[in-house]
Amino acid sequence: MKPVAAPSWLFDSVGYEVYIRSFCDGNGDGIGDLPGLSSRLDHLARIGVGIVWITPFYKSPMADFGYDVADYRAIDPVFGSLDDFDRVIARAHDLGLRVVIDIVPNHSSISHAWFEAARADPQGEYRDYYIWRDPSPDGGPPNNWMSHFGGPAWTLDEASGQYYLHLFLPEQPDLNWRNPAVHREFEQILRFWLDRGVDGFRIDVAHAMVKDEQLRDNPMLMPLDGVTDARYQFACMDHKYDLTQPETLDIYREWRRIVEPYGAALIGETYVLDAADLAKMLPGDGLHTGFWFTPMHMGWEANTIRRTLKAATDAVPAGVGWVQSSHDESRPVARFGGGDLGRRRSLGLSVLMMGLPGVPFIYEGEELGLDDGVVPTDRLTDPVAVRNEGSVGRDPCRTPMPWGPGPNLGFSTAADTWLPLGHDEQWSVASQSADPESHLNRVIAMIKVRNSLTDLAGERASWMDRDDGVVAFTRGDNMFALNADDTARVLDCDPTWTCLFRSQPDPSVPTASDGRFELRPGEGMILARTRGVR
Ligand code: GLC
Ligand code: CA
Repeated sequence: MKPVAAPSWLFDSVGYEVYIRSFCDGNGDGIGDLPGLSSRLDHLARIGVGIVWITPFYKSPMADFGYDVADYRAIDPVFGSLDDFDRVIARAHDLGLRVVIDIVPNHSSISHAWFEAARADPQGEYRDYYIWRDPSPDGGPPNNWMSHFGGPAWTLDEASGQYYLHLFLPEQPDLNWRNPAVHREFEQILRFWLDRGVDGFRIDVAHAMVKDEQLRDNPMLMPLDGVTDARYQFACMDHKYDLTQPETLDIYREWRRIVEPYGAALIGETYVLDAADLAKMLPGDGLHTGFWFTPMHMGWEANTIRRTLKAATDAVPAGVGWVQSSHDESRPVARFGGGDLGRRRSLGLSVLMMGLPGVPFIYEGEELGLDDGVVPTDRLTDPVAVRNEGSVGRDPCRTPMPWGPGPNLGFSTAADTWLPLGHDEQWSVASQSADPESHLNRVIAMIKVRNSLTDLAGERASWMDRDDGVVAFTRGDNMFALNADDTARVLDCDPTWTCLFRSQPDPSVPTASDGRFELRPGEGMILARTRGVR
């Protein structure tokens, strides 16, 4: 495999995902926005991240909270204006932060002018911007594809008698990437934002942009009977024909040529859970990297953790985007046991992600060790939950950021916020900043150490073969270790190794000078070998 020639900053930085609706509300309407983001960018600089990825802020009817775009060149008034966007870029760049914006090319909103024209005129030039088909002989949908969010991936347009395809909500019709006009449109859209100074794109649903030309039925892996959760239903199918079609790579190559002169980066939301499939999406001449999502679905067990991380370092040695949380999944603190136990484990896992080739991303609130927020049933807003009885939606990981004392913990001055606050003040940025032993301060210390390791570039992860619950690898002269067991373990190194960071500060556990380091349950450690002493 050819090495990925990413812009040099990409793999030198830690990334941070801002879910804009929940980050900070600048105008007091209860919804996070661009002015609010500008006012809090110094928090990101302080924790030491180098890249900020902002979720969609485009004009949108918000059926999927912005992932349904009605105009790719306009800011939704809920989030601010283009001037506000320019101010985010300027402030971020002043602080040394790179700005990566979310682009949503797999589908538009049903309210985009292209779709309105396509629907209004089946003979017009915009019809072929989307994917339309006659019903199957029994009058039903043209094939067996399912929507990620439940039900068939096809909706009937009664006026024309044809169905249109949507891999997500019916309000999110899939664009037809077999039409060259769609390519031309997006080239202009990318340039519009590059010329405004963005440093890269996080490409939504990057793995699914092109579909099988014949739209063949997907093979079933198991029957759907009795599976109520929409997203599990999707997993009942082998996505042979709707996802990961090789022609998608041609788009990445085209986009690479567009972004390269700007020194900008392409990071794909490559949602495939098999590392070999991920490697096929990242051959090195298209996307600079893609996220590896399987760590969001693994249980807490040492061999599982090692196998899951190692699968990606073996398949894509040049580096992937490492994530344990996002605006789409239950928070890792909740998944790994909840409360202090989950917090310890999540931070321990972060230590490994900080050292792996590629770029580790943390999701807003992860630096605070937030558990899932509690959202009462009558306050649920995510269409995944609202439209599918029995489905767990994504609201609990999207509750507003707790910043400090005051109304809505500093998130907003509104009487009510779009989702309820999910956490108490003790978890806020202000409270944790004041406590030297807080989760936030451990994260800051960890990122500081990661940023100081200048000799990681070009080094592969070399995994250690251990069967005692410790997951560890070396990269050059550094070692990254996690005790995933629930009893203390000893890392037996030679005396040339010193500890740079441990995730659980406790003066009663000495940092050994004889090369023996005790790792408490869930603890992660970064070590360095002194050259010349070997
Ligand atoms: C991605 C986004 C998710 C969105 C979906 C459809 O998976 O992360 O939030 O609902 O795409 O755009
Ligand atoms: Ca607002």
